[in-house]
Amino acid sequence: MTTARGKFISLEGGEGAGKSTLLAGLRACIEQHGIALVQTREPGGTSVGEAVRAIVLDPAQHELAAETELLLMFASRAQLVREVIEPALGAGRWVLCDRYADASYAYQGGGRGQPTERIAELERWACHGVKPDLTLLLDLPVATGRARAAGRGDADRIESEADAFFERVRASYRERAATDPDRFRVIDASETPAAVLLAATRALMPLLGEPQP
Ligand SMILES: Nc1ncnc2c1ncn2[C@@H]1O[C@H](COP(=O)(O)OP(=O)(O)OP(=O)(O)O)[C@@H](O)[C@H]1O
Ligand SMILES: [Mg+2]
Repeated sequence: MTTARGKFISLEGGEGAGKSTLLAGLRACIEQHGIALVQTREPGGTSVGEAVRAIVLDPAQHELAAETELLLMFASRAQLVREVIEPALGAGRWVLCDRYADASYAYQGGGRGQPTERIAELERWACHGVKPDLTLLLDLPVATGRARAAGRGDADRIESEADAFFERVRASYRERAATDPDRFRVIDASETPAAVLLAATRALMPLLGEPQP
């Protein structure tokens, strides 16, 4: 008997949208169904990826070119796909990832102006066609997200960007979600954590083989 391939779920959204908060609840919901789950994040999730994360988020790296940032994000992603995501899905485990390729279209594309076609080319090369089965986009006004994230102390290199950058990121995410409605579910992240979790678990039902309420 062959093992059914696992499902891949990614969480996307701007700074302070509530991705990390939602992960814990989602994880519990999936595990309650007796499903083995691997939780990971981007950039990071592997030894190489975490080293890349330290570079791209380091506020001292103010010379980092947009092209370098894009390549570093995909370097981390290429490693994560090969070392973590592909093996897990192949073994029938589910993968829950805090950001994935859509983040590059939003941040390095929308935010930094890197051409979409170049990002798509890197995605084809680095990701081996590994795409999420479901992407939950936590959508939130920029000011609300920034106010939430501010409670965490010093801003990292990307969090230090101007509001206009995050407005472009948000617009890119929403545009991507609109062009791929089968994969994306947009969740109003200004709601309470409980309401966000409820919306997310509802979106998950079809993957769990249950009807969506
Ligand atoms: N729905 C919510 N309503 C109010 N506050 C929230 C909500 N969700 C999360 N928060 C709070 O907002 C802050 C940011 O949340 P969290 O760290 O989950 O966001 P994030 O999307 O992971 O951010 P980042 O992109 O920076 O990692 C935390 O202090 C968290 O407790
Ligand atoms: Mg987080």
